[in-house]
Amino acid sequence: MSRKILTALVAAATFSSATFAANVSQEQYDAIAERIKPVGDVYLAGSEPVAVVPTGPRDGATVYGTFCTACHSTGVSGAPKTGDAGDWSPRIAQGRSVLNDHAINGFNAMPAKGSCMDCSDDEIIAAIDHMIEGL
Ligand code: HEC
Repeated sequence: MSRKILTALVAAATFSSATFAANVSQEQYDAIAERIKPVGDVYLAGSEPVAVVPTGPRDGATVYGTFCTACHSTGVSGAPKTGDAGDWSPRIAQGRSVLNDHAINGFNAMPAKGSCMDCSDDEIIAAIDHMIEGL
Protein backbone atom coordinates (compact mmCIF):
# COMPACT_ATOMS: atom_id res chain seq x y z
CA MET A 1 0.00 0.00 0.00
CA SER A 2 1.40 3.31 -0.91
CA ARG A 3 1.75 5.94 1.72
CA LYS A 4 -0.61 8.18 -0.22
CA ILE A 5 -3.45 5.63 -0.15
CA LEU A 6 -2.88 4.89 3.52
CA THR A 7 -3.04 8.58 4.34
CA ALA A 8 -6.25 8.90 2.35
CA LEU A 9 -7.78 5.94 4.18
CA VAL A 10 -6.80 7.27 7.56
CA ALA A 11 -8.14 10.67 6.62
CA ALA A 12 -11.42 9.15 5.43
CA ALA A 13 -11.74 7.06 8.61
CA THR A 14 -10.99 10.06 10.77
CA PHE A 15 -13.44 12.21 8.89
CA SER A 16 -16.27 9.67 9.06
CA SER A 17 -15.75 8.94 12.74
CA ALA A 18 -15.66 12.65 13.45
CA THR A 19 -18.97 13.01 11.64
CA PHE A 20 -20.35 10.06 13.59
CA ALA A 21 -19.19 11.55 16.87
CA ALA A 22 -20.81 14.86 15.99
CA ASN A 23 -24.10 13.12 15.19
CA VAL A 24 -24.11 11.15 18.39
CA SER A 25 -23.29 14.11 20.50
CA GLN A 26 -26.07 16.12 18.86
CA GLU A 27 -28.51 13.30 19.62
CA GLN A 28 -27.21 13.04 23.14
CA TYR A 29 -27.45 16.76 23.51
CA ASP A 30 -31.07 16.71 22.34
CA ALA A 31 -31.90 13.80 24.63
CA ILE A 32 -30.38 15.58 27.59
CA ALA A 33 -32.09 18.83 26.72
CA GLU A 34 -35.40 16.94 26.50
CA ARG A 35 -34.79 15.22 29.86
CA ILE A 36 -33.82 18.26 31.81
CA LYS A 37 -36.17 20.84 30.34
CA PRO A 38 -38.57 22.36 32.88
CA VAL A 39 -42.07 20.88 33.08
CA GLY A 40 -43.69 24.26 32.52
CA ASP A 41 -42.18 26.64 30.07
CA VAL A 42 -40.44 29.50 31.75
CA TYR A 43 -40.80 32.95 30.34
CA LEU A 44 -38.55 35.84 31.07
CA ALA A 45 -40.35 38.89 32.35
CA GLY A 46 -41.70 40.82 29.41
CA SER A 47 -41.54 37.87 27.01
CA GLU A 48 -44.76 36.19 28.15
CA PRO A 49 -47.15 35.32 25.36
CA VAL A 50 -49.84 37.96 25.25
CA ALA A 51 -53.36 36.60 25.70
CA VAL A 52 -55.87 38.00 23.26
CA VAL A 53 -58.43 39.82 25.35
CA PRO A 54 -61.46 41.48 23.87
CA THR A 55 -60.97 45.20 23.82
CA GLY A 56 -63.70 47.40 25.17
CA PRO A 57 -67.23 46.53 26.21
CA ARG A 58 -69.61 44.68 23.90
CA ASP A 59 -72.56 46.75 22.80
CA GLY A 60 -76.12 46.04 23.89
CA ALA A 61 -77.13 44.38 20.63
CA THR A 62 -74.18 42.01 20.79
CA VAL A 63 -74.81 41.00 24.41
CA TYR A 64 -78.53 40.68 23.75
CA GLY A 65 -77.97 38.59 20.60
CA THR A 66 -75.62 36.23 22.41
CA PHE A 67 -77.23 35.83 25.84
CA CYS A 68 -80.71 37.32 26.13
CA THR A 69 -82.44 36.53 22.87
CA ALA A 70 -82.97 32.86 23.75
CA CYS A 71 -85.61 33.83 26.31
CA HIS A 72 -86.51 37.41 25.52
CA SER A 73 -87.33 37.08 21.83
CA THR A 74 -90.14 34.57 22.41
CA GLY A 75 -90.96 35.13 26.09
CA VAL A 76 -89.70 31.85 27.53
CA SER A 77 -90.99 31.32 31.12
CA GLY A 78 -92.80 34.65 30.99
CA ALA A 79 -89.74 36.71 30.02
CA PRO A 80 -90.84 40.14 28.77
CA LYS A 81 -90.49 40.09 25.00
CA THR A 82 -88.07 42.42 23.26
CA GLY A 83 -89.75 45.57 22.01
CA ASP A 84 -93.17 44.52 23.40
CA ALA A 85 -94.60 47.58 25.16
CA GLY A 86 -97.33 45.56 26.89
CA ASP A 87 -94.75 43.21 28.42
CA TRP A 88 -92.37 45.96 29.39
CA SER A 89 -94.44 48.88 30.63
CA PRO A 90 -95.31 47.43 34.07
CA ARG A 91 -91.66 46.45 34.46
CA ILE A 92 -90.31 49.80 33.39
CA ALA A 93 -92.77 51.37 35.86
CA GLN A 94 -90.79 49.70 38.68
CA GLY A 95 -87.97 52.10 37.90
CA ARG A 96 -84.84 51.52 35.94
CA SER A 97 -82.69 50.69 38.96
CA VAL A 98 -84.99 47.75 39.78
CA LEU A 99 -84.72 46.46 36.20
CA ASN A 100 -80.97 46.78 36.26
CA ASP A 101 -80.75 45.06 39.63
CA HIS A 102 -82.99 42.16 38.56
CA ALA A 103 -81.04 41.65 35.34
CA ILE A 104 -77.66 41.82 37.08
CA ASN A 105 -78.51 39.77 40.16
CA GLY A 106 -81.29 37.56 38.83
CA PHE A 107 -85.01 37.51 39.51
CA ASN A 108 -87.19 34.36 39.59
CA ALA A 109 -86.57 32.54 36.28
CA MET A 110 -84.38 35.42 35.08
CA PRO A 111 -80.80 34.18 35.60
CA ALA A 112 -78.20 36.59 37.01
CA LYS A 113 -76.69 38.53 34.12
CA GLY A 114 -78.77 36.40 31.77
CA SER A 115 -76.05 33.79 32.43
CA CYS A 116 -73.39 35.95 30.78
CA MET A 117 -70.96 35.51 33.63
CA ASP A 118 -68.21 37.59 32.06
CA CYS A 119 -70.52 40.50 31.27
CA SER A 120 -69.93 43.72 33.14
CA ASP A 121 -72.90 45.46 34.73
CA ASP A 122 -72.67 48.10 32.01
CA GLU A 123 -72.90 45.45 29.29
CA ILE A 124 -76.07 44.05 30.91
CA ILE A 125 -77.54 47.52 31.19
CA ALA A 126 -76.75 48.14 27.50
CA ALA A 127 -78.55 44.88 26.64
CA ILE A 128 -81.64 46.08 28.55
CA ASP A 129 -81.47 49.36 26.62
CA HIS A 130 -81.43 47.32 23.43
CA MET A 131 -84.54 45.33 24.48
CA ILE A 132 -86.63 48.34 25.42
CA GLU A 133 -85.32 50.66 22.70
CA GLY A 134 -88.11 52.64 21.08
CA LEU A 135 -90.84 51.71 23.57
C1 HEC B 1 -83.12 31.64 30.68
C2 HEC B 1 -83.98 32.65 30.15
C3 HEC B 1 -83.52 34.10 30.24
C4 HEC B 1 -82.37 34.66 29.76
C5 HEC B 1 -81.22 33.96 29.03
C6 HEC B 1 -82.45 36.06 30.04
N1 HEC B 1 -83.60 36.35 30.70
FE1 HEC B 1 -84.18 38.16 31.39
N2 HEC B 1 -85.87 37.35 32.12
C7 HEC B 1 -86.24 36.02 32.03
C8 HEC B 1 -87.51 35.82 32.69
C9 HEC B 1 -88.25 34.51 32.80
C10 HEC B 1 -87.90 37.07 33.20
C11 HEC B 1 -89.14 37.39 33.99
C12 HEC B 1 -88.84 37.13 35.47
C13 HEC B 1 -90.07 37.45 36.33
O1 HEC B 1 -90.64 38.54 36.17
O2 HEC B 1 -90.42 36.62 37.19
C14 HEC B 1 -86.86 38.01 32.82
C15 HEC B 1 -86.89 39.35 33.15
C16 HEC B 1 -85.92 40.26 32.76
C17 HEC B 1 -85.98 41.67 33.07
C18 HEC B 1 -87.07 42.37 33.83
C19 HEC B 1 -86.82 42.29 35.30
C20 HEC B 1 -87.92 42.97 36.09
O3 HEC B 1 -87.64 43.45 37.19
O4 HEC B 1 -89.07 43.01 35.62
C21 HEC B 1 -84.86 42.23 32.53
C22 HEC B 1 -84.46 43.69 32.60
C23 HEC B 1 -84.12 41.18 31.90
N3 HEC B 1 -84.78 39.99 32.05
C24 HEC B 1 -82.92 41.35 31.25
C25 HEC B 1 -82.21 40.33 30.64
C26 HEC B 1 -80.96 40.53 29.98
C27 HEC B 1 -80.27 41.87 29.81
C28 HEC B 1 -80.54 39.30 29.52
C29 HEC B 1 -79.28 38.96 28.77
C30 HEC B 1 -78.02 39.47 29.28
C31 HEC B 1 -81.54 38.34 29.93
N4 HEC B 1 -82.52 39.00 30.60
C32 HEC B 1 -81.45 36.98 29.67
C33 HEC B 1 -85.53 35.03 31.41
C34 HEC B 1 -84.29 35.18 30.82
